[in-house]
Amino acid sequence: MIARCRKLSVFSEDTNGLRRTFLSPPMREVHKEFARWMEALGVQVRVDAVGNIRGFYPAADANAPRLLIGSHLDTVPNAGAFDGILGVVLGIALLEELHPKRLPFGIEVAGFSEEEGVRFGKPFIGSRALVGRLDEELLSAVDGQGIRVRDAIQKFGLDPAEIPNAKLSDDTLAYLEFHIEQGPVLEKLGKSLAAVEGIAGQSRIEVIFFGRANHAGTTPMNLRHDALAGAAEWIGAVERSACETAGLVATVGKIEAKPGATNVIAGEARLSLDVRHGSDAIRAQAVEELLGNAEQIAQQRRLFVRTAALLEQRAVAMNSFLVGEIERAIAKAGCEPHRMVSGAGHDAMILAEKVPSAMIFLRTPGGISHDPAESVAVEDVEKAIACGVKLLEQLAASPEFCKRAAT
Ligand code: HGY
Ligand code: MN
Ligand code: MN
Repeated sequence: MIARCRKLSVFSEDTNGLRRTFLSPPMREVHKEFARWMEALGVQVRVDAVGNIRGFYPAADANAPRLLIGSHLDTVPNAGAFDGILGVVLGIALLEELHPKRLPFGIEVAGFSEEEGVRFGKPFIGSRALVGRLDEELLSAVDGQGIRVRDAIQKFGLDPAEIPNAKLSDDTLAYLEFHIEQGPVLEKLGKSLAAVEGIAGQSRIEVIFFGRANHAGTTPMNLRHDALAGAAEWIGAVERSACETAGLVATVGKIEAKPGATNVIAGEARLSLDVRHGSDAIRAQAVEELLGNAEQIAQQRRLFVRTAALLEQRAVAMNSFLVGEIERAIAKAGCEPHRMVSGAGHDAMILAEKVPSAMIFLRTPGGISHDPAESVAVEDVEKAIACGVKLLEQLAASPEFCKRAAT
């Protein structure tokens, strides 16, 4: 499974490092590999209208409901080899463990085309199609080249008119996602796996400081309207504010100064702000304070500031029945169970709008993610598969779970 993730990590838009964004050409190679692995099991495979790859492993009974297992295929720039893709590879690993046995429910494995939000600044395009939230506003979002989501879909050879057919099958009982933790918690505890009980909410905002470009050599310091200096002062304030608020993380990950020359005072500084917390109220309060601070700094420095919300995603609790079943399965796989909240966002927060959803985390060595040093331990992958097999057995034997089909 680790070798499969590493094999897929060569399918990149960049020659040095892994970058695979929404419907970029390398995504076609990833689809081909997944189709090959799933078709070997007799799985029916399709690519839906937003580029999600979907494989269905039927139950014994053709009218039985299904369980959805998945994660995302896209990556951040200079990514590691496991974020997202490991969850799809493990979904297929469970089918391989199962085959040719059939369960009282079918299993659909989904690889989502876009979760990170790198190309269009808006995340979850793939999974939002499954819950019917791929609205006109999102389809009209443009990337750095002015290409709309709708155009990217057509350019990839898909048809936006088919988007309604990407929706979840009505008989979907639940959604499960295996994912690396991407943080230091499990490693510090010396544990392989965790049951995710909730996912922190997140706000993503674009903040632009406008000043007055001018000559770096002739403009006295007291006559400047330096957008980049103003942005720098604000970035320090963002970090200080997050350090002072328990459980809050706030990040300025992207900055672009214009015109961007050594000998020109920046007239414009465009920044990204990412704020997260387990409580939506605390996150909203923090965002209000940080944007208010940006206004204050702009006033003091005779600048203007403009902000645009890119994402407001509320915190989402995972399904308590499934969390309990996951903990039982983790114990049966020979690991000590652990429950935790995810600081990273995941497709499970979107699927949870429609079906009971839950996640299983795998330990992240060094707590490093969104970087080529991202890794996963063989023994933790083995335990994740063992846990997944036990979980499927438990769900197959659970009258509560299977009876949902009737509702
Ligand atoms: O940014 C995140 O939370 C995740 O990696 N998409
Ligand atoms: Mn990620
Ligand atoms: Mn991810």
